[in-house]
Amino acid sequence: MIRLLDIQKTYDNGTKALKGISLRIDDGEFVFLVGPSGSGKSTIIKLITGEVKPSGGKLMVNGFNLGDIRPGQVPYMRRTLGVIFQDFRLIEKKTVRENLTFAMRAVGASPREIRKRIPYVLDLVGLSRKEDRYPSQLSGGEQQRVAIARALVNNPQMIIADEPTGNLDPQMSLEIMMLLEKINELGTTMLVVTHERELVDRFSKRVVAIENGRIISDETGGYYNNEETI
Ligand SMILES: Nc1ncnc2c1ncn2[C@@H]1O[C@H](COP(=O)(O)OP(=O)(O)O)[C@@H](O)[C@H]1O
Ligand SMILES: [Mg+2]
Repeated sequence: MIRLLDIQKTYDNGTKALKGISLRIDDGEFVFLVGPSGSGKSTIIKLITGEVKPSGGKLMVNGFNLGDIRPGQVPYMRRTLGVIFQDFRLIEKKTVRENLTFAMRAVGASPREIRKRIPYVLDLVGLSRKEDRYPSQLSGGEQQRVAIARALVNNPQMIIADEPTGNLDPQMSLEIMMLLEKINELGTTMLVVTHERELVDRFSKRVVAIENGRIISDETGGYYNNEETI
């Protein structure tokens, strides 16, 4: 569960990126976070992952209070999250299977757990036959599927995706979004940042719209209403 209470973020150069955001995401939800470029979407994601610190307000992530979390606890908070980015961020010198193994070893998984889990997640994302490929031998959509498998491999409570389809063509984008929907239906909470109106409008999900550092609407089964989006 995620809870932001009157969250403010002012960057060191004085930019006020968030001007009082209150938002609650319950376990099991699928939420689109939409808004124009520069509205503060990535800042919200970075606050949730602990990459940036709030300037004010209260922030709870899966039971951790990020306002007074001890540095030693941050890795445990991060393990409750799977994160996906626009640019995939795979390790180019490792195969698909090695990328996933690396992510599991990083949290101390046993060889037995690794052998069991990897075929399961690769099957889920539809890449069982490509586990020995390197990222450069895969299409963009396939690389994003690997990144989704990696985000899932340690069984997080929640996946947060910052513009996961930003580098993909419309057909690939739709397939990736349908995959995220399926993963959500299997129980993982999903927070997806996008500024692609057509995509949001094809799914009937909760849509939180931000503009200029503030939430301007929050509707279930919502559409992307922001007229100013480019
Ligand atoms: N590290 C940073 N330092 C200063 N300003 C930043 C930094 N990161 C983002 N900003 C500014 O904060 C605002 C919100 O940015 P961001 O959260 O990246 O928006 P979005 O993801 O919606 O495009 C923008 O004005 C952006 O220029
Ligand atoms: Mg962004």
